[in-house]
Amino acid sequence: MTKSDYERLAHDMVSRIEIVNSLDSARPNILQVRVDGRHAVLKMGIADSLCKELSVLERTVDSKHTPVLFDSFKTDGHIGILREFIEGKCLEFGERLNPEQYSSLRESVRYLHAEGIYGLDIYPGNILMTPEGRPRLFDFNTCDVCIRDSSSRYRMSWDWELINILRGDN
Ligand SMILES: Nc1ncnc2c1ncn2[C@@H]1O[C@H](COP(=O)(O)OP(=O)(O)OP(=O)(O)O)[C@@H](O)[C@H]1O
Ligand SMILES: [Mg+2]
Repeated sequence: MTKSDYERLAHDMVSRIEIVNSLDSARPNILQVRVDGRHAVLKMGIADSLCKELSVLERTVDSKHTPVLFDSFKTDGHIGILREFIEGKCLEFGERLNPEQYSSLRESVRYLHAEGIYGLDIYPGNILMTPEGRPRLFDFNTCDVCIRDSSSRYRMSWDWELINILRGDN
């Protein structure tokens, strides 16, 4: 689908939507928008492709750790997730976190694990650094939402390994 197809779909899904921008030209399905004065992101996908992401955002109500879920939509075989827009920019590859940022990211991962969410797609492109210098995770389409078992233990340790790579020396 083209950018204008997604813009049309966005208007079908959310009547009072104002499209501000495409977030990324390679991803025409993700739009930066305003709805009722709120700054948001609308991520659209076919059929069940965004189910996991939606179930994570429904589960994680502590907005300190994940974007707030404003609303979700089902239209013409598509799912739309309207979530909080987070100011900031993604980490660069090779960028490292200072001790406060690292401990803040650890806290978010601990929170997600406690909610039964494992195998987070933790890499610089899925971590936004806010203007206050706080790392925020936001892409949850590949993780597992389940009760803890031996496979989730493996996924949890993998998450900690990935976090460790981002840790700075000082
Ligand atoms: N809530 C948000 N606030 C600000 N920017 C966002 C937000 N959600 C996504 N973005 C921007 O859009 C880009 C792509 O988002 P995301 O990682 O959710 O999509 P994706 O990688 O295409 O997803 P998937 O892994 O489901 O294919 C991000 O790298 C980020 O720059
Ligand atoms: Mg991503």
